[in-house]
This record gives sequence, structure tokens and C-alpha cells, in this order.
Amino acid sequence: MSLVKTIGELEDWRKRSGRKEQTLGFVPTMGYLHEGHLSLIRRAKAENGLAAVSIFVNPTQFGPGEDFEKYPRDTERDYRLAKEAGADVVFCPEADEIYAPGFSTEVEVKGGLTQKLCGASRPIHFKGVATVVNILFNIVRPDRAYFGQKDAQQAVVIQKMVRDLHIPVEIVVCPIVREKDGLAMSSRNMYLSPEERKQALSLSRGLAKARGLLASGEEGCDRAERLAEVIGREIRKEPLAKPEYIEILDGGTLEEIERVEPGRKALAAVAVRFGGTRLIDNTVLSLEEK
Ligand code: PAJ
Repeated sequence: MSLVKTIGELEDWRKRSGRKEQTLGFVPTMGYLHEGHLSLIRRAKAENGLAAVSIFVNPTQFGPGEDFEKYPRDTERDYRLAKEAGADVVFCPEADEIYAPGFSTEVEVKGGLTQKLCGASRPIHFKGVATVVNILFNIVRPDRAYFGQKDAQQAVVIQKMVRDLHIPVEIVVCPIVREKDGLAMSSRNMYLSPEERKQALSLSRGLAKARGLLASGEEGCDRAERLAEVIGREIRKEPLAKPEYIEILDGGTLEEIERVEPGRKALAAVAVRFGGTRLIDNTVLSLEEK
């Protein structure tokens, strides 16, 4: 595996790698890799001749007062894990390699898609994400790029950006990887105190209850309001949990829905604060077509 820090070094790698004869799968990350990231890298390698990973804690997607400064970093460990998962190259640039001096261009996916859910409390977040992912796509030039369903809204925003701008890359969205007890893996889980960690299980428990309710087939179980209520009840049982949103939306467009329609994927999405830590989780809700 090659470790490269500059765009020039990445170009040299490309020439050596046999890139022309093979497809390239790309996994953009902010590092501090866990099994969620590694599942994307393994899939990228399984579906392509070559797999590239980027590690870049992108300053433009963090708002003032968010955790950019204290975002966990462990580059040595990340290289080792990325290599073991099958990465052929890890691109780990400094900020001025990505944002050259005088940088003044932004990519913004406009409309409700980026304003609701996480966009409501993080107004500049998706602009930062869309801009950096666009830059990384232009530098890495992959055939396919792998994103996690864990950040469901991010995946929808990136898919929209790729369609709107005719970016020649296929977006592959991969399932959420969870700890054994159900907590969705996240680099931010390390901020949780033992008690918060325990109470954080209410997110996956609530989402499971919503899936259970929908599967029960009982009268009104497909109503978005009831499904959100079941999730909220589970989360609000925990004294340290401060829910930011609990929403049931169309899985493709993130538009509000009244009920889960057979044959159409809905998304149950939650964001909950535990002290200074903000956790997100989601599940797809679906009913078979009649
Ligand atoms: P980061 O939070 O490091 O996540 C990198 C990728 O890993 C994202 O596509 C995310 O959805 C996926 N991921 C994280 N936790 C996961 C889990 N438990 N299961 C499956 N996939 C998981 O998302 C970002 O970085 C950044 O916004 C980035 C796209 C790199 C742009 O800066």
C-alpha cells in the first residue's frame, strides 16, 4: 500500500498502479477508522481492481463551536487498518493541498435536502461536504465511490450533486455497521461517558421498535406520526438524551410523508445529543408491495 500526502504523489501512484486497466473504488473519510469505514474499504476493493482511501478532517464542514479541533486523529493506526482492509493507496493531505491559498469556490446542493435534519442545526455542513467531496473526486478520479447509510442525508446529498453536475462516478451506499449491542459505529462514540454510552442504545432500540410496529400490521402502524412517537418514547426514557430531531421521511427525496407506502422506502432518522456529543442513527422502513 502507498501512503501519499500530495496530489503530485497521488499522480505518481496512479502511473505505477495499473490504473488504466482497472477500476478504482474510492472511500473518503475523516479518519479514526472503525469497522464502518473498513466495511466500505473492503467493499471498494472487492468491487474494483484498486481501492483508494482519503483521510482528511475537512475544516469547512464543521461549524463554529463544533468539534473540529478535538476530532479524534490516529493516522498511524488508520494506515494499518486501511491496508489490512485492502486499500492500495491512502491519500492524507494537509488542508492547503485541498484548499489552495485564495480558494474561493463552493458547491452547494440547494433546497430542503440540505436544510432539514442535520442541515437545520448545521447550516454550513453540507456545503462543506459537497465541496470537499467534489474536490476529492476531481483529485482521485474514481469510477465508484463508497458512502455509508449511517450518514443517510449525506449519501442523498452526494447522489444529488453527482446527478446535477454529471460527475462521472457511481455512488455506492453501504449498510450501517453497528456494535454488538446495536450502537451505530461512529468516530464520535469515543466522546461518550460510560453512562451516556449506555443511554445511547435508546437510538437503535427506538428505531427497532419502529420497525417492529410497522411489521405488526396493526391499524395505523404505517403512520409517520405513530412511528416517530414510538422512537421518541424510547429515547426520552433516558434522562441524558436530548433529541434534536426524530423524523420519518421519504428515503429517496427526504420529503415529509404521512405514512409508509408499500413498495416505497421510508427513512426513520434521529439525532440526539448526550452532553456535548451529537449522535445520529437511522433505519429504512418498508412495506412489501401488495
Ligand atoms: P466520516 O464520518 O469519517 O465517514 C466516512 C464514511 O464512512 C461515510 O460515508 C460514512 O457514512 C461512513 N460510515 C461512518 N460510520 C459508519 C457506520 N457505522 N457504518 C457504515 N458506514 C459508516 O462522512 C464523512 O467522514 C465526511 O463527511 C466525508 C464524506 C469524508 C467528507 O469530509
